[in-house]
Amino acid sequence: MIPHGLPENPTGKNLFDTFPNLPPFVPEEYRRVFDTGKTLVTEEIIAAGGRDCIFEVRKIPILLAGKVHRVMTVFHDITEHKIMEKQIRRYSEQLEQEVLRRMERIRELERRQREDEKLAAAGRMAARIAHEINNPLAGIKNAFQLIKGAVPESHPYFHYVGLIEKEINRIARIIQQMFGLYRPEPEMIREFRPDQSIREVAALMETTCQDSRVAIRVAVADALPAVHLSEGLIRQVLFNLIKNAIEVSPPGGEITVGAKTEAQTMVLTVADQGPGIPEDIRARIFDPFFTTKTGSNAPGLGLGLYISKSIVEFLRGTIECHCPPGKGTTFRVVLPLIAKERENEPWPKAEES
Ligand SMILES: Nc1ncnc2c1ncn2[C@@H]1O[C@H](COP(=O)(O)OP(=O)(O)OP(=O)(O)O)[C@@H](O)[C@H]1O
Ligand SMILES: [Mg+2]
Repeated sequence: MIPHGLPENPTGKNLFDTFPNLPPFVPEEYRRVFDTGKTLVTEEIIAAGGRDCIFEVRKIPILLAGKVHRVMTVFHDITEHKIMEKQIRRYSEQLEQEVLRRMERIRELERRQREDEKLAAAGRMAARIAHEINNPLAGIKNAFQLIKGAVPESHPYFHYVGLIEKEINRIARIIQQMFGLYRPEPEMIREFRPDQSIREVAALMETTCQDSRVAIRVAVADALPAVHLSEGLIRQVLFNLIKNAIEVSPPGGEITVGAKTEAQTMVLTVADQGPGIPEDIRARIFDPFFTTKTGSNAPGLGLGLYISKSIVEFLRGTIECHCPPGKGTTFRVVLPLIAKERENEPWPKAEES
């Protein structure tokens, strides 16, 4: 920047008289014009009229008999032009950001569309599977009625009869729901003792736990009150959470299933000693078809948590996970004790975009 103000009318005056304290690069620039005979154009910030202005400074050689006789200096105030340039640059940056935002939105909509397509395909597949399972299941159900009648109450395994029947009925209901995936009938909402169902689900998962050398512990508070919810749906949520916990537990690990009541809500927890859920995927674990279990052995469908969340929200509850560093994962489900008011509402449908 040239430190001197521009005089009122510099035209025709000797530059070095007008600006006695010019910085050293200025005479050097004139020397260059004298030596080369070529016009030199620079931009300078010069204080003029009480403010800093940007000038285009043109040093034009004037030739006499083939030699540079004088150098004429033309100052052209380009401040406004520069301000405009800056504004245009800012607008184009804003425009670029807007385009990026819109592209991101389009990508998101495309992703959701792909998910919807997958859901529709899964619906068709589920209906086919349901159809295939339905017939043998009817056979099992009929045959079991005969066995049930043949096992006397005094038999040491008699209590399994009720358990097996309950599970057969549950499978039948799930199959029925699969016929119209994501549009199944709402489950019957009635009063039941949650501690009993939790113990039963845990007992049913015992063999899978043993296969994986994992212990399962039920830590249910005493005198848990009866709740007015859907037992089948809650069992389904617990089943999915415990299954996930088993799948991530190290051999020798322990899974704790807890239940307690807190201010008109029932709090269910399933805690494991697995590796926890990496922070960067935590926001997506409830998305349909999101799975990290891609191995060929037992690949996941990525539906367990999505279905569990749909159920919990249908019952007006919440589900979330906590992963304190190095301490595994705890899923916490909070449900109202009474869910009467939703009894006649249809099951939540797949998200529509
Ligand atoms: N307890 C857990 N510990 C660590 N990661 C978990 C846990 N539970 C769920 N996840 C992560 O969340 C993903 C989604 O779980 P979700 O139950 O929906 O699907 P999945 O278990 O992969 O397949 P599916 O349940 O359909 O067989 C899992 O693939 C896994 O990455
Ligand atoms: Mg799962």
